[in-house]
Amino acid sequence: MTKISGTALQEHLETLLEVTAFPPPAAFAQSALWKDPDVYAEADADPQAWWDRHARDLHWHHPWDTVLDWSDKPFAKWFVGGKINAAYNCVDRHVEAGRGDRVAFYWRGEEGEEQTLTYSWLHAQVQRAANALVDLGVRPGDVVGIYLPMIPEVVVAMLACARIGAPHNVVFGGFSVESVRERLEESHAKVLITADGARRRGKVHQIKQEIDTVTSSLPDLEHVLVVRRTSVNCPMAAGRDVDWDDALAAANPLAPIQAFDAEHPLFILYTSGSTAKPKGILHTTGGYLVGVAHTTKYIFDLRPETDVFWCSADVGWVTGHSYIVYGPLLNGATSVMYEGAPDYPHRAIWWETVERYKVSIFYTAPTAVRACMSWGAEEPNKHDLSSLRLLGSVGEPINPKAWLWYREVIGGGNCPIIDTWWQTETGQIMIAPVPGITAAKPGCAMRPLPGIKADVVDPDGNPITEGQGLLVLRRPWPGMLRTLYNEPERFVRTYWSRFGPDTYLVGDAARIDADGDIWILGRTDDVINVSGHRLSTAEVESAIVSHPKVAESAVVAQHDEITGQAIVAFVTPVEGTETEGMDHELRDHVAEMIGKLARPKRIIWTYDLPKTRSGKIMRRLLRDIAAGRDLGDVTTLRDPAVMDQLRKLIAERGDSED
Ligand code: WT7
Repeated sequence: MTKISGTALQEHLETLLEVTAFPPPAAFAQSALWKDPDVYAEADADPQAWWDRHARDLHWHHPWDTVLDWSDKPFAKWFVGGKINAAYNCVDRHVEAGRGDRVAFYWRGEEGEEQTLTYSWLHAQVQRAANALVDLGVRPGDVVGIYLPMIPEVVVAMLACARIGAPHNVVFGGFSVESVRERLEESHAKVLITADGARRRGKVHQIKQEIDTVTSSLPDLEHVLVVRRTSVNCPMAAGRDVDWDDALAAANPLAPIQAFDAEHPLFILYTSGSTAKPKGILHTTGGYLVGVAHTTKYIFDLRPETDVFWCSADVGWVTGHSYIVYGPLLNGATSVMYEGAPDYPHRAIWWETVERYKVSIFYTAPTAVRACMSWGAEEPNKHDLSSLRLLGSVGEPINPKAWLWYREVIGGGNCPIIDTWWQTETGQIMIAPVPGITAAKPGCAMRPLPGIKADVVDPDGNPITEGQGLLVLRRPWPGMLRTLYNEPERFVRTYWSRFGPDTYLVGDAARIDADGDIWILGRTDDVINVSGHRLSTAEVESAIVSHPKVAESAVVAQHDEITGQAIVAFVTPVEGTETEGMDHELRDHVAEMIGKLARPKRIIWTYDLPKTRSGKIMRRLLRDIAAGRDLGDVTTLRDPAVMDQLRKLIAERGDSED
């Protein structure tokens, strides 16, 4: 396709909106790893045999006796009796096979600096880092916190933990140190790996100094390992804090491989639930590795010898764990890793990067596609994107317009678009088109992958053949979470109780169409999806009410053109508080408590919140107010005057966003 923009592009996209489904480009389908739709039937006929076969793509130090033990459901055990080492599979075996010179990552920093990290380099670094952790007293089963920017050391740190059987607990760099504290405390982390500072859009943030304000209240934390990324002031506590470079230099360069049980914990990753307390999603080793290795290979149609893979997520989210670190490395792939934001230092940086490294597979979030769309096709059009052959999307529903823009402007009309539905809990992609087989519908996640069984059900759990309902998963899968760290009852209650222990409740609503294809509609719990990141309303509310001038708060989601959803906070101040000019203060407070990503886009001050006579906050009404919808019946309201006040307030003050 010739590169178009402006009105011509708009008209072109309008005509494409009429197309129901886009079959894989013929050339792609012809050479795809999976081109025969029989894979679905084959996997369904015997799912355990299917996973047994795919698990053999990895190196096991000892084979398993049983593929799946589901006798203690919903606590699954996969590849029972098998012994495996995650780091060995990600790094050593490629080096041993003579592929040490292959590039694992082309890393690019915010200031344009570059590093080429080969598998041999990773091999050497991971061994030293593993030994450095052992020298600090880390033993199998000890939790190691990681709070790092998108720098090569974050991959080394994760793999070093995996190598010695110490589950890592990565906290996204955009979370506040208070969030880090909570997650380290909950997981009893023994060591934290962090950086002196981080660069964000040209500014340097003093990470270590900030961390020091919370570490004293962590009795389990014995050491802090500090990577020097910047030259900011970095206080080091004698005996506790250790310089990463010094520790690696002092460590033995050789770290023998220890094989761990397939069910040995690999990592904990905290995610938001419907209460203020984040859930520690626990993934174990064998099954997770099988799930991500397999999906990286077949859903992205990955050819490690020739492809350059780029997942633009942050390693601090599950997407980064599965499709920046484990999936690509297990396959011996070459990836790109970029430190910065999509618009820093300029709005064509992603496309310049695609051209520079000849990226062939690109995986990003709908919010990023919509942001790029709003910046105009002129930016990507400046670059040669012809190396791209497959595009992926993840994190939230992608609207057909953004899907088509992605396909035409970024993919030049030649790349299959893979809308991948999954969760932190599922570990691996679950519902997505298969690129060489599926005729993909714009905005539709399509079908469960071979071996996966999903249904859309009514409130009683009966499958719906066409229409809307709750999305459920019916059958265990290797990458599934095993429990919530230290909260097994919450694990059972949250996911496996509504429809019994054989049905996993996803928490999303979905529509199944006449062809049996699944359209994800969004969360059914009190979770807001801002730019593909999960935030619980309760968590944001609790941060807001922890401000001394706040009496009560209710948080709801509002549709947003770019971020999908945005946070709207209704806030009742403590009596006598002057709220004029308070918005900034409250937003900063939320940033401090959770992180900038949780700052409400809009704050609406009100003397009371609409409540039922029994005192329950009527969130539906708040959502209607936020969306400017007709408020309908408010007769059950305790104090209908509240509604009049809210209506008036909104009319007078409008949006309070930055
Ligand atoms: C929730 C999971 C999976 C990694 C990123 C998010 C939503 C995810 C899609 C998609 C529609 C999607 C769901 C899901 N979601 N992918 N392709 N289409 N919605 O992981 O933070 O665990 O969030 O994100 O609501 O439940 P997460």
